[in-house]
Amino acid sequence: MTELRTHIGAEIAERGPMPFSRYVELALYTPELGFYETTGQAGGRRGDFVTSVETGPLFAAVIGDWLDGIWNAAGQPARFRVAEAAAGVGTLWRGIVKAAPACRDALEWLLVERSAALRSAHDTLPAGAVSLADLPDSPVDVVIANELLDNLVFDIAIMTEHGWKPRLVDEVAGPLTLVTGEWPNGSPAVDRAAALPADAPLGAEVPVASGAVAWIEQARAIADRVLAFDYAATNAELLERGIDGWLRAYVGHERLRAPIDHPGVCDITHDVPIDQLPPTTSVQSQADWLDANGIGQRVETARKTWQERAHIGDLEAMFARSAITEADALTDPNGLGGFVVMEWVREQG
Ligand SMILES: C[S@@+](CC[C@H](N)C(=O)[O-])C[C@H]1O[C@@H](n2cnc3c(N)ncnc32)[C@H](O)[C@@H]1O
Repeated sequence: MTELRTHIGAEIAERGPMPFSRYVELALYTPELGFYETTGQAGGRRGDFVTSVETGPLFAAVIGDWLDGIWNAAGQPARFRVAEAAAGVGTLWRGIVKAAPACRDALEWLLVERSAALRSAHDTLPAGAVSLADLPDSPVDVVIANELLDNLVFDIAIMTEHGWKPRLVDEVAGPLTLVTGEWPNGSPAVDRAAALPADAPLGAEVPVASGAVAWIEQARAIADRVLAFDYAATNAELLERGIDGWLRAYVGHERLRAPIDHPGVCDITHDVPIDQLPPTTSVQSQADWLDANGIGQRVETARKTWQERAHIGDLEAMFARSAITEADALTDPNGLGGFVVMEWVREQG
């Protein structure tokens, strides 16, 4: 049994069954033992899952274009502060530097990454970025987060004869299992659960976005714009998918079927319940968002370069071919293209 598993068992023995959000907190973020503090990271062959950021530099280039639009509209200020939450090892920042958007010299990039293990990789990044463990208190122009919301702590609610009740993690005859209990006193999940669809069938289970709501409120308090990319769905869609559809656990690119009994070993995430979040200014699919922000033009240029240089086979040709492949992955409606892009814009005045 791992040290983390023993620690969780001891906490359950002392305090009783554990809220799922507490379990996610311990499994992913316990210092030196949680998934993101040990092995967990996005990426290619060595990572546990591939994100848009990790498909290659194209995603960052389009984000750079989007940032230019905001910077231009603001009159090209000399200082343009962008906080990137869930910065991981800093791949997006590397991509931004490579893409060199017009706002590059004004950019002050804040790499906000909760995991100390991943933050340690920030030392070797190109200049111009500051590494932080949490969002700053001071104002920024933009907050961006790719695949953060699904990794923030969440609870699980189940419909019972007495309404929505929490699923708690208990240790019953060996493995950690989910049991139905009562909401802890003072839990913010109580009010969120009360707002869930009252006509759900008995036994239906949905995530309660405890962490995501709190984080969005924190981000909106410091930024004019918050942009989040993630896999997300409505309560109705989540009810339809069932828990095996929306509760995800990944390790080494494999999706595990029993995420509860492997704390620290696998990622634990959920499809983000979009209609539990603060009302967005806009929501669209990632494919549509990338399209609206010029990915088509970049791919067109890459195709031309590839046609002209394929026979030479130099680096430029290879980058062009890779951009075409990246665009396919980023816009695939059954994959990353089906992700949701949510934006919250502060009303001026
Ligand atoms: C799925 S990874 C995404 C990494 C990266 N954005 C990408 O797309 O490749 C989620 C990351 O969010 C980090 N994280 C979790 N909670 C956080 C928080 N409150 N603030 C900043 N980062 C957080 C985790 O440590 C992890 O590195």
